[in-house]
Amino acid sequence: MRILFIGDIVGKSGRDIVSSLLYSLKQQYKIDLTIANGENSAHGKGITRKIYKQLINEGIDYITMGNHTYSKNEVAEYISQMDRLVVPYNHIKRNCPNYYKIIEFNNLRFCLVNILGTVLMGESDMSPYEAFEIVKKETEKYDVDFYFVDLHAETTAEKRIFAEYFHDCAKVVVGTHTHVQTADEDIIKGCAFITDVGMCGAYDSVIGRDVSETIKTNIEKQKTVYTIAEGPAIFCGVVIEIDEEKKIPVSIERIQIRP
Ligand SMILES: [Fe+2]
Ligand SMILES: [Fe+2]
Repeated sequence: MRILFIGDIVGKSGRDIVSSLLYSLKQQYKIDLTIANGENSAHGKGITRKIYKQLINEGIDYITMGNHTYSKNEVAEYISQMDRLVVPYNHIKRNCPNYYKIIEFNNLRFCLVNILGTVLMGESDMSPYEAFEIVKKETEKYDVDFYFVDLHAETTAEKRIFAEYFHDCAKVVVGTHTHVQTADEDIIKGCAFITDVGMCGAYDSVIGRDVSETIKTNIEKQKTVYTIAEGPAIFCGVVIEIDEEKKIPVSIERIQIRP
């Protein structure tokens, strides 16, 4: 089985590059299942029902989220209708049933989860390690072969520690949130891991945001609205191959396509 995981889709540039490349990438890499992080897909913060439907219709099977999960109010209201959306268990707004998804493919059964880091992450009040233990306990009845974790966190060490500690059951740990792809993809003690998958969003930007605005905000200390950069985008993702007999990952490959 081959899974394409797409990094944080940021705004319209991100959505456009995904829709223009998705079909050919799925053909080229013989993809069976596609998962994307959509926490920035609606103008940089959150997701809307319309964009959720658009991404699913374009061929993304599941959408994971992050600290911006509830940035658009309609998500909390309509989440029961968004059955392919997986949200972080340890978000401070945690009354949501969509915090895991059981996925079956041929004779494989795995559980997709989305967990937040706590370092420099105001939207989380529970460590990723504690949160994952709870999710494991609550999903043990499904007797899954392994967990596929989108670990949405700021710091490199927090993500690596997670993979090192949970490698027995979390056979895939992909980092998201920083929007910058790291070059450390590897199979670590049986776990397919990358610190950060990177983003799909405007290349001429500061992690997807308008460059001049980030200067105004951070250096000139001006009040600004949150403006997403426009223009040609970078596409970042990884392809993970799972041995269906042994039920383990055998490879993880980075994809990075610049404009
Ligand atoms: Fe993000
Ligand atoms: Fe994030």
